[in-house]
Amino acid sequence: MAVKLVTTVQELHSEGARLLAAKRGTSQGLVPTMGALHEGHAALARAAVEQNDVVVATIFVNPLQFGDALDLDRYPRTLEADLALLDREGVDLVFAPSVDEVYPGGEPLVRVTSGRLGEKWEGASRPGHFDGALTVVAKLLHYGLPAAGLAAGGGTGGGLPAYRAYFGQKDAQQLALVRRMVADLNFPVEVVGVPTVRAADGLALSSRNRFLSPEEREGALVLSRALRLLEERAHAREPLDLESAQALVESQPLVALDYFDVVDPATLEPLAENCRETPFRGEGLALIAAKVGPVRLIDNMPLSS
Ligand code: PAF
Repeated sequence: MAVKLVTTVQELHSEGARLLAAKRGTSQGLVPTMGALHEGHAALARAAVEQNDVVVATIFVNPLQFGDALDLDRYPRTLEADLALLDREGVDLVFAPSVDEVYPGGEPLVRVTSGRLGEKWEGASRPGHFDGALTVVAKLLHYGLPAAGLAAGGGTGGGLPAYRAYFGQKDAQQLALVRRMVADLNFPVEVVGVPTVRAADGLALSSRNRFLSPEEREGALVLSRALRLLEERAHAREPLDLESAQALVESQPLVALDYFDVVDPATLEPLAENCRETPFRGEGLALIAAKVGPVRLIDNMPLSS
């Protein structure tokens, strides 16, 4: 296997700098993950490998973003398979630290707060989730800074390498929040959003899909069907008629709808006027969340006309 695994920040910096120097690299990509990788993560890695000379993926199940200790324990850990997938995609280096390595003083006292944007939609049913996710993303973006390794003795011979970080469009609220954090707090990194990968039947890939029974999986397809309906109407510049799409989801007995709305892609504020009787114009994002049996699923669809 060509991909190299490191577990400490020091190794990450020295190995990252070595790779940049060896490849005379002018760009570094970072792919933050929590492991349990699937083809959606493979698409992130592939985009990073296409666009950068050196690619680092991180695998860290971040306790700070789990409300429930049981959920944290149950989160699948599949390091060997994850390494094989990242190796197949051409990732150079994997940083898989322990909890103590990331939080050496225990839980951090000072955290990133996600503000209003983190309180709605997913944030409403998972209080504190986005503060925990942004806090670890901030740390991972700092750990992955190519300059950190170069300062420790590496070098490309030129200016600072470009630095890009890759996040899935599937977690649209997380992506919007990471973009805002990077802009609001001046992180020297370009955030790249990668389109959602779907199974042939339309279900968005997620590490949670493995917990669906065959019947629940079949029932879950109504989420992507309803989103596609809105996408088609937006394309055809028809009224979105969100209510009829909501009714379609609610007609599926195994699905308990949490929210389904059309929002501004950056602010995630509802685009109420655009969703009902008037023909859809411009850009929007349809967001949906539902419990399918015991499994909470989220999905979304960019809309444009
Ligand atoms: O999307 C995820 O897998 C996680 O929220 C992330 C970005 C790796 C932070 O823990």
